[in-house]
Amino acid sequence: MNSIENIDKKPVILSGITPSGILTIGHLTGALHNWVKLQNSYDCYFMIADQHAITVKQEPAALRKRTLDTAAMFIACGIDPETSNLFIQSHVPEHSQLTWVLSCFTGMGECGRMTQYKDKSEKHSENVGLFAYPILMASDILIYQANLVPVGEDQKQHLELSRNLANRFNFNYSETFAVPEPFIAEIGARIMSLQEPNKKMSKSDENSNATIFLTDSDTEIKNKIKRAVTDSGTGIKFSDEKPGIANLMTLYNISSGKSFKEIEEEFENAGYGDFKKAVGDSVANYLNPIRDKYFELRNNELKLKEILSLGADKARKTAMKTLRKVYKKIGFVSL
Ligand code: TRP
Repeated sequence: MNSIENIDKKPVILSGITPSGILTIGHLTGALHNWVKLQNSYDCYFMIADQHAITVKQEPAALRKRTLDTAAMFIACGIDPETSNLFIQSHVPEHSQLTWVLSCFTGMGECGRMTQYKDKSEKHSENVGLFAYPILMASDILIYQANLVPVGEDQKQHLELSRNLANRFNFNYSETFAVPEPFIAEIGARIMSLQEPNKKMSKSDENSNATIFLTDSDTEIKNKIKRAVTDSGTGIKFSDEKPGIANLMTLYNISSGKSFKEIEEEFENAGYGDFKKAVGDSVANYLNPIRDKYFELRNNELKLKEILSLGADKARKTAMKTLRKVYKKIGFVSL
Protein backbone atom coordinates (compact mmCIF):
# COMPACT_ATOMS: atom_id res chain seq x y z
CA MET A 1 0.00 0.00 0.00
CA ASN A 2 1.46 3.40 -0.84
CA SER A 3 1.36 6.35 1.51
CA ILE A 4 -1.32 8.22 -0.43
CA GLU A 5 -3.74 5.33 0.01
CA ASN A 6 -2.86 5.27 3.67
CA ILE A 7 -4.03 8.76 4.49
CA ASP A 8 -7.20 8.79 6.61
CA LYS A 9 -7.60 5.09 6.17
CA LYS A 10 -9.30 3.54 9.18
CA PRO A 11 -8.08 0.13 10.35
CA VAL A 12 -10.20 -2.70 9.00
CA ILE A 13 -12.19 -5.05 11.22
CA LEU A 14 -13.86 -8.25 10.11
CA SER A 15 -15.97 -10.66 12.07
CA GLY A 16 -18.74 -13.13 11.43
CA ILE A 17 -21.21 -15.48 13.00
CA THR A 18 -22.20 -18.86 11.60
CA PRO A 19 -26.00 -19.07 11.25
CA SER A 20 -26.31 -22.39 13.01
CA GLY A 21 -28.97 -21.29 15.51
CA ILE A 22 -30.90 -18.35 16.91
CA LEU A 23 -28.66 -15.69 18.44
CA THR A 24 -28.55 -15.52 22.22
CA ILE A 25 -28.02 -12.80 24.79
CA GLY A 26 -24.43 -14.09 24.90
CA HIS A 27 -23.90 -13.01 21.29
CA LEU A 28 -25.24 -9.57 22.14
CA THR A 29 -22.96 -9.00 25.11
CA GLY A 30 -19.97 -10.98 23.85
CA ALA A 31 -19.90 -9.85 20.23
CA LEU A 32 -22.57 -7.61 18.78
CA HIS A 33 -22.40 -4.84 21.36
CA ASN A 34 -18.67 -4.57 20.89
CA TRP A 35 -19.07 -4.52 17.14
CA VAL A 36 -21.56 -1.68 17.41
CA LYS A 37 -19.08 0.34 19.45
CA LEU A 38 -16.37 -0.16 16.83
CA GLN A 39 -18.46 0.87 13.84
CA ASN A 40 -17.52 4.51 13.69
CA SER A 41 -13.83 4.22 14.39
CA TYR A 42 -13.05 1.32 12.05
CA ASP A 43 -13.87 0.17 8.57
CA CYS A 44 -16.05 -2.79 9.57
CA TYR A 45 -17.05 -5.93 7.71
CA PHE A 46 -19.65 -8.08 9.43
CA MET A 47 -20.82 -11.23 7.74
CA ILE A 48 -23.19 -14.11 8.18
CA ALA A 49 -21.02 -17.15 7.53
CA ASP A 50 -23.45 -19.42 5.67
CA GLN A 51 -20.62 -21.25 3.91
CA HIS A 52 -19.19 -22.23 7.27
CA ALA A 53 -22.60 -23.50 8.35
CA ILE A 54 -22.71 -26.25 5.71
CA THR A 55 -19.64 -27.99 7.14
CA VAL A 56 -22.24 -29.76 9.25
CA LYS A 57 -25.50 -31.03 7.80
CA GLN A 58 -28.14 -28.33 7.35
CA GLU A 59 -31.74 -28.46 6.31
CA PRO A 60 -31.89 -26.05 3.33
CA ALA A 61 -35.06 -24.14 4.28
CA ALA A 62 -33.86 -23.79 7.86
CA LEU A 63 -30.44 -22.51 6.78
CA ARG A 64 -32.05 -19.97 4.45
CA LYS A 65 -34.34 -18.77 7.22
CA ARG A 66 -31.64 -18.61 9.87
CA THR A 67 -29.28 -16.71 7.60
CA LEU A 68 -31.88 -13.97 7.13
CA ASP A 69 -32.82 -14.14 10.83
CA THR A 70 -29.21 -13.53 11.76
CA ALA A 71 -28.87 -10.60 9.37
CA ALA A 72 -32.03 -8.97 10.76
CA MET A 73 -30.77 -9.52 14.29
CA PHE A 74 -27.40 -7.90 13.50
CA ILE A 75 -29.27 -4.76 12.45
CA ALA A 76 -31.72 -4.94 15.38
CA CYS A 77 -28.74 -5.04 17.75
CA GLY A 78 -27.35 -1.86 16.26
CA ILE A 79 -25.18 -2.76 13.27
CA ASP A 80 -25.78 0.04 10.81
CA PRO A 81 -25.62 -1.31 7.25
CA GLU A 82 -24.79 2.16 5.94
CA THR A 83 -21.76 2.60 8.18
CA SER A 84 -20.55 -1.01 8.19
CA ASN A 85 -20.36 -3.59 5.43
CA LEU A 86 -23.03 -6.14 6.31
CA PHE A 87 -23.35 -9.14 4.01
CA ILE A 88 -23.89 -12.86 3.58
CA GLN A 89 -20.67 -14.76 2.93
CA SER A 90 -21.92 -16.75 -0.09
CA HIS A 91 -22.87 -13.49 -1.83
CA VAL A 92 -19.20 -12.64 -2.17
CA PRO A 93 -17.80 -15.52 -4.27
CA GLU A 94 -14.25 -14.17 -3.94
CA HIS A 95 -14.05 -15.80 -0.47
CA SER A 96 -14.25 -19.24 -2.09
CA GLN A 97 -11.91 -18.29 -4.88
CA LEU A 98 -9.24 -17.13 -2.45
CA THR A 99 -9.82 -20.28 -0.39
CA TRP A 100 -8.67 -22.41 -3.28
CA VAL A 101 -5.46 -20.45 -3.67
CA LEU A 102 -4.72 -20.47 0.05
CA SER A 103 -5.49 -24.21 0.23
CA CYS A 104 -2.50 -24.75 -2.00
CA PHE A 105 -0.32 -23.02 0.61
CA THR A 106 -1.64 -24.88 3.64
CA GLY A 107 -0.13 -28.08 4.95
CA MET A 108 -2.42 -30.99 5.84
CA GLY A 109 -1.05 -30.96 9.38
CA GLU A 110 -1.92 -27.30 9.85
CA CYS A 111 -5.61 -28.07 9.43
CA GLY A 112 -5.50 -31.49 11.04
CA ARG A 113 -4.28 -30.17 14.37
CA MET A 114 -7.15 -27.70 14.84
CA THR A 115 -9.00 -28.58 18.02
CA GLN A 116 -12.36 -27.49 16.63
CA TYR A 117 -11.88 -29.84 13.68
CA LYS A 118 -11.07 -32.72 16.01
CA ASP A 119 -14.13 -32.01 18.18
CA LYS A 120 -16.54 -31.49 15.33
CA SER A 121 -15.36 -34.42 13.24
CA GLU A 122 -15.96 -36.68 16.21
CA LYS A 123 -19.42 -35.27 16.87
CA HIS A 124 -20.63 -34.98 13.26
CA SER A 125 -19.55 -37.04 10.30
CA GLU A 126 -16.32 -35.67 8.93
CA ASN A 127 -15.89 -34.08 5.52
CA VAL A 128 -13.24 -32.11 3.65
CA GLY A 129 -15.12 -28.84 4.25
CA LEU A 130 -14.88 -29.29 7.98
CA PHE A 131 -11.16 -29.96 7.56
CA ALA A 132 -10.59 -26.93 5.33
CA TYR A 133 -12.86 -24.60 7.33
CA PRO A 134 -9.95 -22.55 8.79
CA ILE A 135 -8.70 -21.80 5.26
CA LEU A 136 -12.10 -20.39 4.34
CA MET A 137 -11.98 -18.38 7.54
CA ALA A 138 -8.52 -17.07 6.60
CA SER A 139 -9.91 -16.00 3.24
CA ASP A 140 -12.82 -14.20 4.93
CA ILE A 141 -10.30 -12.17 6.84
CA LEU A 142 -7.48 -11.67 4.36
CA ILE A 143 -9.66 -10.76 1.40
CA TYR A 144 -10.65 -7.50 3.16
CA GLN A 145 -7.11 -6.77 4.39
CA ALA A 146 -8.49 -6.94 7.93
CA ASN A 147 -6.17 -5.63 10.64
CA LEU A 148 -8.25 -6.71 13.60
CA VAL A 149 -10.55 -9.67 14.12
CA PRO A 150 -12.83 -9.76 17.16
CA VAL A 151 -13.06 -13.43 18.04
CA GLY A 152 -13.71 -15.59 21.03
CA GLU A 153 -11.16 -17.90 22.60
CA ASP A 154 -12.38 -20.84 20.47
CA GLN A 155 -11.39 -19.10 17.22
CA LYS A 156 -7.88 -18.00 18.18
CA GLN A 157 -6.23 -21.06 16.71
CA HIS A 158 -7.97 -20.41 13.40
CA LEU A 159 -6.83 -16.81 13.46
CA GLU A 160 -3.26 -17.97 13.97
CA LEU A 161 -3.48 -19.91 10.71
CA SER A 162 -4.75 -16.76 8.96
CA ARG A 163 -1.69 -14.90 10.21
CA ASN A 164 0.63 -17.66 9.07
CA LEU A 165 -0.93 -17.80 5.63
CA ALA A 166 -0.74 -14.01 5.23
CA ASN A 167 2.93 -13.98 6.20
CA ARG A 168 3.73 -16.98 4.00
CA PHE A 169 2.10 -15.44 0.96
CA ASN A 170 3.69 -12.03 1.58
CA PHE A 171 7.09 -13.65 1.98
CA ASN A 172 6.78 -15.67 -1.23
CA TYR A 173 5.19 -13.04 -3.49
CA SER A 174 5.80 -9.60 -1.87
CA GLU A 175 3.47 -7.66 0.38
CA THR A 176 -0.13 -8.61 -0.45
CA PHE A 177 -2.14 -9.16 2.73
CA ALA A 178 -2.44 -7.27 6.00
CA VAL A 179 -1.51 -9.61 8.85
CA PRO A 180 -4.54 -9.70 11.18
CA GLU A 181 -4.41 -9.43 14.95
CA PRO A 182 -6.98 -10.87 17.33
CA PHE A 183 -9.12 -8.21 18.95
CA ILE A 184 -10.00 -9.36 22.41
CA ALA A 185 -13.04 -7.60 23.78
CA GLU A 186 -13.21 -6.39 27.35
CA ILE A 187 -14.06 -9.21 29.70
CA GLY A 188 -16.91 -9.43 32.15
CA ALA A 189 -19.78 -9.97 29.77
CA ARG A 190 -19.45 -13.70 29.35
CA ILE A 191 -22.86 -15.26 29.79
CA MET A 192 -23.10 -18.82 31.03
CA SER A 193 -25.78 -21.49 30.58
CA LEU A 194 -28.74 -20.99 32.91
CA GLN A 195 -28.80 -24.73 33.59
CA GLU A 196 -25.08 -25.48 33.83
CA PRO A 197 -23.48 -22.18 34.88
CA ASN A 198 -19.95 -23.52 34.41
CA LYS A 199 -20.59 -23.86 30.67
CA LYS A 200 -20.86 -21.01 28.15
CA MET A 201 -24.40 -20.21 26.99
CA SER A 202 -24.80 -21.68 23.52
CA LYS A 203 -27.23 -21.26 20.65
CA SER A 204 -27.15 -25.00 20.09
CA ASP A 205 -27.76 -26.25 23.65
CA GLU A 206 -30.23 -29.13 23.63
CA ASN A 207 -31.96 -27.77 26.73
CA SER A 208 -33.71 -24.57 25.62
CA ASN A 209 -34.11 -23.55 29.27
CA ALA A 210 -30.35 -23.05 29.37
CA THR A 211 -30.37 -20.25 26.81
CA ILE A 212 -31.96 -16.83 26.45
CA PHE A 213 -32.56 -16.30 22.75
CA LEU A 214 -32.83 -12.75 21.48
CA THR A 215 -36.23 -13.68 20.05
CA ASP A 216 -37.67 -14.99 23.34
CA SER A 217 -40.88 -13.36 24.59
CA ASP A 218 -40.97 -11.58 27.94
CA THR A 219 -42.72 -14.57 29.50
CA GLU A 220 -40.14 -17.01 28.14
CA ILE A 221 -37.29 -14.88 29.45
CA LYS A 222 -38.86 -14.55 32.90
CA ASN A 223 -39.65 -18.26 33.13
CA LYS A 224 -36.16 -19.33 32.08
CA ILE A 225 -34.61 -17.07 34.67
CA LYS A 226 -37.04 -18.31 37.30
CA ARG A 227 -35.93 -21.89 36.52
CA ALA A 228 -32.22 -21.02 36.36
CA VAL A 229 -29.98 -23.25 38.44
CA THR A 230 -28.73 -21.40 41.50
CA ASP A 231 -26.26 -22.46 44.11
CA SER A 232 -26.89 -23.88 47.51
CA GLY A 233 -27.01 -21.47 50.39
CA THR A 234 -28.35 -17.95 50.38
CA GLY A 235 -27.09 -14.49 49.67
CA ILE A 236 -26.59 -12.51 46.50
CA LYS A 237 -22.81 -12.23 46.27
CA PHE A 238 -20.57 -12.25 43.23
CA SER A 239 -18.15 -15.13 43.70
CA ASP A 240 -16.52 -18.00 41.84
CA GLU A 241 -18.09 -20.40 44.28
CA LYS A 242 -21.55 -19.28 43.21
CA PRO A 243 -21.45 -19.49 39.41
CA GLY A 244 -25.26 -19.57 39.07
CA ILE A 245 -25.80 -16.41 41.11
CA ALA A 246 -22.78 -14.73 39.50
CA ASN A 247 -24.28 -15.39 36.07
CA LEU A 248 -27.64 -13.92 37.06
CA MET A 249 -25.83 -10.93 38.53
CA THR A 250 -24.01 -10.46 35.24
CA LEU A 251 -27.33 -10.52 33.40
CA TYR A 252 -28.74 -7.97 35.85
CA ASN A 253 -25.63 -5.81 35.55
CA ILE A 254 -25.84 -5.76 31.75
CA SER A 255 -29.57 -5.17 31.55
CA SER A 256 -29.87 -2.54 34.30
CA GLY A 257 -26.47 -0.88 34.17
CA LYS A 258 -26.11 -1.32 37.94
CA SER A 259 -22.70 -2.30 39.28
CA PHE A 260 -22.12 -5.57 41.14
CA LYS A 261 -21.72 -3.63 44.35
CA GLU A 262 -25.04 -1.86 43.85
CA ILE A 263 -26.70 -5.19 43.09
CA GLU A 264 -25.30 -6.77 46.27
CA GLU A 265 -26.64 -3.86 48.28
CA GLU A 266 -30.03 -3.91 46.61
CA PHE A 267 -30.53 -7.60 47.41
CA GLU A 268 -28.75 -7.72 50.74
CA ASN A 269 -31.74 -9.15 52.56
CA ALA A 270 -33.52 -10.75 49.62
CA GLY A 271 -33.98 -14.42 48.78
CA TYR A 272 -33.19 -16.06 45.45
CA GLY A 273 -36.84 -15.88 44.39
CA ASP A 274 -37.07 -12.09 44.65
CA PHE A 275 -33.70 -11.68 43.02
CA LYS A 276 -34.65 -13.90 40.07
CA LYS A 277 -37.86 -11.97 39.57
CA ALA A 278 -35.93 -8.70 39.40
CA VAL A 279 -33.42 -10.18 36.96
CA GLY A 280 -36.21 -11.59 34.77
CA ASP A 281 -38.00 -8.23 34.61
CA SER A 282 -34.80 -6.36 33.90
CA VAL A 283 -33.61 -8.69 31.12
CA ALA A 284 -37.08 -8.71 29.53
CA ASN A 285 -37.17 -4.89 29.47
CA TYR A 286 -33.69 -4.76 28.08
CA LEU A 287 -34.34 -7.15 25.20
CA ASN A 288 -37.78 -5.83 24.36
CA PRO A 289 -36.77 -3.04 21.95
CA ILE A 290 -34.28 -5.30 20.17
CA ARG A 291 -36.93 -7.95 19.63
CA ASP A 292 -39.45 -5.39 18.33
CA LYS A 293 -36.95 -3.99 15.89
CA TYR A 294 -35.99 -7.53 14.84
CA PHE A 295 -39.54 -8.55 14.00
CA GLU A 296 -40.14 -5.32 12.13
CA LEU A 297 -37.07 -5.97 9.95
CA ARG A 298 -37.70 -9.66 9.60
CA ASN A 299 -41.28 -9.13 8.46
CA ASN A 300 -40.13 -7.11 5.50
CA GLU A 301 -37.96 -9.65 3.69
CA LEU A 302 -37.82 -7.64 0.49
CA LYS A 303 -36.29 -4.69 2.27
CA LEU A 304 -33.90 -6.93 4.21
CA LYS A 305 -32.67 -8.55 1.00
CA GLU A 306 -32.20 -5.15 -0.57
CA ILE A 307 -29.96 -4.13 2.35
CA LEU A 308 -27.97 -7.37 2.01
CA SER A 309 -27.63 -6.96 -1.71
CA LEU A 310 -26.15 -3.48 -1.28
CA GLY A 311 -23.90 -4.84 1.47
CA ALA A 312 -22.61 -7.60 -0.79
CA ASP A 313 -21.92 -5.12 -3.61
CA LYS A 314 -19.89 -2.92 -1.27
CA ALA A 315 -17.94 -5.86 0.18
CA ARG A 316 -17.26 -7.29 -3.28
CA LYS A 317 -15.51 -4.15 -4.42
CA THR A 318 -12.79 -4.70 -1.82
CA ALA A 319 -12.75 -8.47 -2.23
CA MET A 320 -12.28 -8.27 -5.99
CA LYS A 321 -9.36 -5.91 -5.59
CA THR A 322 -7.50 -8.31 -3.32
CA LEU A 323 -8.30 -11.35 -5.44
CA ARG A 324 -7.11 -9.62 -8.59
CA LYS A 325 -3.77 -8.89 -6.92
CA VAL A 326 -3.44 -12.49 -5.73
CA TYR A 327 -4.26 -13.98 -9.13
CA LYS A 328 -1.71 -11.74 -10.79
CA LYS A 329 1.02 -12.58 -8.30
CA ILE A 330 0.59 -16.33 -8.55
CA GLY A 331 0.70 -16.28 -12.32
CA PHE A 332 -2.90 -16.55 -13.52
CA VAL A 333 -3.41 -14.90 -16.89
CA SER A 334 -5.51 -11.75 -16.87
CA LEU A 335 -7.39 -10.78 -20.03
N1 TRP B 1 -15.82 -19.42 12.58
C1 TRP B 1 -16.57 -18.39 13.28
C2 TRP B 1 -17.52 -19.06 14.28
O1 TRP B 1 -17.91 -20.17 14.11
C3 TRP B 1 -17.35 -17.55 12.35
C4 TRP B 1 -16.47 -16.95 11.34
C5 TRP B 1 -16.35 -17.30 10.03
C6 TRP B 1 -15.54 -15.90 11.56
N2 TRP B 1 -15.45 -16.54 9.40
C7 TRP B 1 -14.91 -15.68 10.31
C8 TRP B 1 -15.18 -15.16 12.68
C9 TRP B 1 -13.92 -14.73 10.17
C10 TRP B 1 -14.17 -14.19 12.53
C11 TRP B 1 -13.55 -13.99 11.29
O2 TRP B 1 -17.89 -18.42 15.24
